[in-house]
Amino acid sequence: MNLTVNFIREKIGDFQPEIGIILGSGLGDFADSFDSIKISYNDIPGFEKSNVQGHKGQLVFAEVNGKKVVMMQGRYHFYEGYSMQTVTYPVKVMKKLGVKTLIITNAAGAVTPEFTPGDLMFITDHINFMGTNPLIGKNDDTLGTRFPDMSEVYAKDLIIKAQGIAEDLNISYQKGVYVSTTGPSYETPAEIHMFRLLGGNAVGMSTVPEAIVANYCGLKVLGISCLTNYAAGVSETPLNHHEVIETADKVKESFKNLLSEFIKQV
Ligand code: HPA
Repeated sequence: MNLTVNFIREKIGDFQPEIGIILGSGLGDFADSFDSIKISYNDIPGFEKSNVQGHKGQLVFAEVNGKKVVMMQGRYHFYEGYSMQTVTYPVKVMKKLGVKTLIITNAAGAVTPEFTPGDLMFITDHINFMGTNPLIGKNDDTLGTRFPDMSEVYAKDLIIKAQGIAEDLNISYQKGVYVSTTGPSYETPAEIHMFRLLGGNAVGMSTVPEAIVANYCGLKVLGISCLTNYAAGVSETPLNHHEVIETADKVKESFKNLLSEFIKQV
């Protein structure tokens, strides 16, 4: 960990990020709009070699609306075969770099039939359906406690702020519970039916590991899903990755505006 943090500090000098952002599917180019210092995951000691396609796999340090921000352009997914430790390591690094607030974004399927693809959903809580936990293993007491409380992983005040901004910008949003699966296969209609009965509103293959670790090490979290499709069985049409990318692309501009305004206000 020290090796990683020292390596990054050497590259960024006295730049001290206070906000971290994990950019999900289709949102990666948010990071391209700013003057920045970029560090490829492949160059960072302690980061796994990244093979993410369509993502750049780099940390981007930039000043956004007067705030110092570190962005993850591309993330490690559990379904790619990375360990939970690898998936969540960047969150611990952000904490060590001084980040206080983490914005986690993703693409997700709508479990609730009343939600519409293209809506954003502010995550109020989650259900970890990945069958494992990123905190399993020896605890690092410098980061957090062995048995962390999970009563408010997604900070209520950040959701209220984000809602206000969405309303000001005329962006249609929902609020709800995100269910995480490992992927990479999409869910069956029976699984989605079950998730709905359990109180889930959206489903996806990321975010929960990072949110668990962020909460554990005392970061405030805002989670935003871009609802890219109806989950299996909610509508008749079969799912495909192409549809996910297409919807994410359509929503991209308003999503970026919301992020940018949130960074200004937080
Ligand atoms: N299921 C799981 N992950 C997803 C989906 C989905 O329907 N859409 C985008 N990511």
